[in-house]
Amino acid sequence: MARIVVVGSINMDLVTLAPRFAGPGETLIGTRFLTIPGGKGANQAVAAARLGAHVAMVGAVGDDAFGSQLHQGLVSEGIDVTHVARIRDEGSGTASITVAGGENQIVVVPAANSRVTPAQVDAAAALFAEADVVLVQLETPLDAVEATLRLGKRAGVPVILNPAPAQRLPPEWLSMVRYLTPNQHELATVLNADPDADFRELMRRAPCPVVLTRGEEGAWFTENGEAVHQPGFKVQAVDSTGAGDTFNAALAVHLSEGLPTAVRKACATAAIAVSRLGAQGGMPRADEVTRFLETQS
Ligand code: RIB
Repeated sequence: MARIVVVGSINMDLVTLAPRFAGPGETLIGTRFLTIPGGKGANQAVAAARLGAHVAMVGAVGDDAFGSQLHQGLVSEGIDVTHVARIRDEGSGTASITVAGGENQIVVVPAANSRVTPAQVDAAAALFAEADVVLVQLETPLDAVEATLRLGKRAGVPVILNPAPAQRLPPEWLSMVRYLTPNQHELATVLNADPDADFRELMRRAPCPVVLTRGEEGAWFTENGEAVHQPGFKVQAVDSTGAGDTFNAALAVHLSEGLPTAVRKACATAAIAVSRLGAQGGMPRADEVTRFLETQS
């Protein structure tokens, strides 16, 4: 069983289903409203746990009702929450999400997530020492992300950095990353490059190995100096929220099977998630992924 540490955000997703996206100043009538646990960090933790990994999370929730629900949700997925802080006088992170036609629009208010500190990451050193893979994203403060990369390097554990939401990063940080997992826009932003540049060229320029996600087209990675394409799996898209998080979790869980297998399984796991509603609502268990792959040629 893979041991995975996730350093990242924990949000309550406030999800509205709508016939289309509203324009500026426009009011639309939606069809449904749901609150679903989310946040890129928590999503990756839950997806990895459902795939059978032993998962520990480093993050923070507020001392509000959402905080209790989010904390309990992680516990019920079997995730070690010893290093999830409960921040006094602070709300939990939220994400206001509109889903229309299988696409989404998201506005995140970090709240308690902005209180994750380098000291909190360093306090989890014993977890890092036992981990097979560490996952981190960019929804917590950058000094905590940097602490994660440095601690991962010290512990000799591979760190997967999912650079979402996109931000420019110091190149020296990337030398501490085992795999960077952006989409094309995120890769261009991280490298401060032209967003219209050819993604294969951007992958070559990155100072660390890149596994690039391309939505329904699948993913690209580099093997023995050659760019390799893993095609996506065709499904009826219902909600793409959390698809990237599911991809990252599966990549981490299956990394020990070699990169091509891990990327193939990550694409399959993310495709299943896209065919269902909600980030954590759609994440499959390991046996579902196995059955899904058996139906694919
Ligand atoms: O990646 C999807 C996640 O982004 C959502 O669950 C939302 O909380 C935002 O953090």
